[in-house]
Amino acid sequence: MKKPIRIVNLVGARPQFIKASALSRELRKRPDLFEEIIVHSGQHYDENMSDVFFEELEIPQPQYHLGVGSSSHAEQTAKILKRVEELLLERKVDVLVVYGDTNTTLAGALAAAKLNIPVAHVEAGLRSHNSRMPEEVNRKLTDHASTWLFCPTQSAANLLKAEGISNRSAPHSPDSPAVVVTGDIMLDVARWASESADPSEYNIPSDPFILCTLHRDFNVDNPERLDAILKGMTQLSATAKVIFPVHPRTEKHITEEQREALVNAGCELVAPMSYRTLNAYLNACSLVVSDSGGLQKEAYFLQKPVVIPRPETEWVEMVQNGTAATVDAITERLVEQSLEWLNNPPSEYPPVYGNGQSAVVIVDAIAKMFE
Ligand code: UD1
Repeated sequence: MKKPIRIVNLVGARPQFIKASALSRELRKRPDLFEEIIVHSGQHYDENMSDVFFEELEIPQPQYHLGVGSSSHAEQTAKILKRVEELLLERKVDVLVVYGDTNTTLAGALAAAKLNIPVAHVEAGLRSHNSRMPEEVNRKLTDHASTWLFCPTQSAANLLKAEGISNRSAPHSPDSPAVVVTGDIMLDVARWASESADPSEYNIPSDPFILCTLHRDFNVDNPERLDAILKGMTQLSATAKVIFPVHPRTEKHITEEQREALVNAGCELVAPMSYRTLNAYLNACSLVVSDSGGLQKEAYFLQKPVVIPRPETEWVEMVQNGTAATVDAITERLVEQSLEWLNNPPSEYPPVYGNGQSAVVIVDAIAKMFE
């Protein structure tokens, strides 16, 4: 019998646990073909940023926990790079799968590419065209080191083509990559979770409310931008309830004065939510204000408009079809756009993110290369 393909599923940050859960579920259906090794870099480590996602999404416990924790970009990336290299060599790994745009993604891709181990990049081809974002640097470099580029949309594949990365013939390598449009893997997870969702488990307000999250470093580490956005959320709290699960990075930067203004206006600041809890709130809310790319799409799946406090977004389809708007960190624009959609929400959400079967397409493509 042929040896199974040994595949490392590398995760480290909250959105990656979500995406990896769908791929892991598909790999576990094919045990003759694949041996999966889940590796957690430790980039996110709090219970409510990590463990709860493994439990709710039924992800097996990682075989390796690299425990890198928080530090500067260089240090965090370097620690992951070194530890991933060691384990790729030790376990004689055939394929490394990475997700999105975090330091974990880049470090893993770099370690594997230098060992000539093929890298599969899930969520390839996204661009903000803003290289001041650490995520933009991570995703660009990862794409150029990958053998498989699994794109959530056709526009992501088009962006890769503009950078000289297009689908070439097998045998695949970073010089002759496979570019595959798979649909969005977060939709796989949303569909799976909705089958057993029970909103009555949560204490969700019955009146209209806005769900808000912030975590991008250029927003929360920058006092002027953060203040402008929070002023907008304070003003909006006078009109509708705002529920704001606070990311640990953001928690460090909100001042007492800002917190007080938000709370006095009626905003509810809460701890980061689990996947299922967040989805239950998302399903019940009227509007999302967020700088998160993942939440932006989850909102779209549930047909909720999103106001994005950024100058641009990678998920351009949503802006083009009028269900999301970028308002930068400009208080008046944030408030105006939000009020407009609270009163007059968009009604059309065309199916631009596939059919919720991305994991099957990805696993089939990898299996084919080893035939
Ligand atoms: C990271 C990713 C970003 C992704 C986001 C999802 C990079 C460069 N950024 O941003 O692409 O969208 O994750 O959340 O990889 N912290 C805790 N507890 C935790 C995790 C983090 O307290 O469990 C604190 C850390 O001390 C740190 C801050 O949060 O100061 C930020 O963590 P970090 O891993 O640097 O990046 P994120 O902002 O979460």
